[in-house]
Amino acid sequence: MVADDKPASTFKYHEEPVYTTSNGCPVESPEAYQRVGQNGPLLLQDFHLIDLLAHFDRERIPERVVHAKGAGAYGEFEVTHDISDISTIDMLLGVGKKTRCIARFSTVGGEKGSPDTARDPRGFSVKYYTEEGNWDWVYNNTPVFFIRDPTKFPLFIHTQKRNPQTNLKDATMFWDYLSTHQEATHQVMTLFSDRGTPYSYRHMNGYSGHTHKWIKPDGTFNYVQIHMKTDQGIKTFNNEEAGKMASENPDHNTQDLFDSIQKGEYPSWTCYVQVLSPEQAEKFRWNIFDLTKVWPHKEVPLRPFGRMTLNRNVENYFAEIEQVAFSPSHMVPGVEPSADPVLQSRLFSYPDTHRHRLGVNYQQIPVNSPIRAFNPYQRDGQMAVNGNYGANPNYPSSYRNMTYRHVKPTNDHEKWAGAAVSYLSEVVPEDFVQAKGLWDVLGRQEGQQDNFVHNVAVHLSAAKEDTRKRTYEMFGNVDKELGARIAKETEKLAPGPTSQAAGSAQSRL
Ligand code: NDP
Ligand code: HEM
Repeated sequence: MVADDKPASTFKYHEEPVYTTSNGCPVESPEAYQRVGQNGPLLLQDFHLIDLLAHFDRERIPERVVHAKGAGAYGEFEVTHDISDISTIDMLLGVGKKTRCIARFSTVGGEKGSPDTARDPRGFSVKYYTEEGNWDWVYNNTPVFFIRDPTKFPLFIHTQKRNPQTNLKDATMFWDYLSTHQEATHQVMTLFSDRGTPYSYRHMNGYSGHTHKWIKPDGTFNYVQIHMKTDQGIKTFNNEEAGKMASENPDHNTQDLFDSIQKGEYPSWTCYVQVLSPEQAEKFRWNIFDLTKVWPHKEVPLRPFGRMTLNRNVENYFAEIEQVAFSPSHMVPGVEPSADPVLQSRLFSYPDTHRHRLGVNYQQIPVNSPIRAFNPYQRDGQMAVNGNYGANPNYPSSYRNMTYRHVKPTNDHEKWAGAAVSYLSEVVPEDFVQAKGLWDVLGRQEGQQDNFVHNVAVHLSAAKEDTRKRTYEMFGNVDKELGARIAKETEKLAPGPTSQAAGSAQSRL
């Protein structure tokens, strides 16, 4: 019999539960069904069959609109260096302090079944279950991004997905967008270096990309950026290896992560913070709210503070990875968003999509539940499964004692005033400087500039001729010789000016 005190779904693999319907009624065989005689029609009274089919019909929830393909695991964060002079975040205070976490890595543009080795940025999300709430780091493996104007995100993402007519990935759409929005060039340089095809999730870095604010003990704040550097070392596929792996094992990176943790080879990342005071930020050459720019290491050194290690695989992929819900707006006391407009938009977009994808009570799903959360004014809604705050008043009642914690104000460093404007950033020569910096970094690594030119040429050659030409000009804005080299290599592979059909060709890895 099913034990009274145990939900049936929690039985362990070695136990032998009684098979039942979903309402707990024992069933003789999961494969038998009720019909009239040996050959007659079915009976509507057969709850077991109807319930089985109806539940199956609803097994799929919406996949993530971006970052649909992913893998993840549990782990812990440990503070390795004292940073109490610059942080008041509880999780970061006290060398040796540990906090549980779950991480999810992903590709961006492809669907849930797409290959892990596609050329794409990789998502790098971590949810920390801190004593003061869940703190989510929703990062990428690239320190910059394609846009700095938030309205462009859905438009840009459409160009990385499928053509509305052909339902194919479309090289012309891809490069048409990028070559007409050249603030993306720095990120394109990263994406088409071999770091655009990481060997595994264990062998890549994670970057906040955005600037955040960390509150100091005196109530003032610094601007910060976070870097998570792989302790396994950077390891990448080249273009051809990535393409080959996409057909041999499209789940290569998913498997690599699961197998390494299963073997006890726990991947880890050393965490660093770059720090700028508001006064330094004002004088800084780069706009710290511009997501297409890094803070050069030489000017803003990396300060180590912790290590994140993944050490436990999940028991159930759907429950723990498909249902995990990260958001840049899941923050804790001591950290605040900066005015970066892309970050500000993300603060809205993630909980919004979670309500659509998982439902209004997504924070009650066990993998998303904070250690302690108490908000009895959020009540009811679909799947209120945690007791719904029982008899607690659903308004701030004078009959219910509650502690309200004073949150220190961030004082007055940041004061905004101005007329409401309709804003859209312009691309200026300064936008190509850091892209050129990366081209020079590649030049210091044997074969990496050649690989970059090749990686672009293979992809770009499938685009229409005028889009190809505009893209050569874009790379020429980074470096004249780079533009010329890409033009030469691409035209060798392109099908020729008469074949406009090339524009809708499936883009190549
Ligand atoms: P540095 O010479 O100090 O740093 C260069 C950095 O480039 C390295 O530390 C490494 O970042 C990254 N890098 C190395 N090889 C590759 C590669 N094949 N593909 C992509 N990135 C690579 O110079 P700067 O700080 O002045 O930066 C120069 C350029 O490096 C920037 O324009 C930017 O494009 C890129 N970069 C800079 C980062 C930053 O935060 N300053 C971070 C990452 C890239 P890491 O150590 O993080 O692996
Ligand atoms: C996932 C929106 C920019 C990193 C998502 C999802 C949405 C979204 C809707 C799906 C979330 C889900 O279904 O759970 C946006 C918008 C952006 C933006 C509107 C800009 C305006 C960025 C940037 C980064 C980033 C700049 C990195 C610095 C991620 C990651 C995921 C994700 C890592 C996957 C989260 C997971 O593993 O579940 N984004 N995004 N996004 N995004 Fe963004």
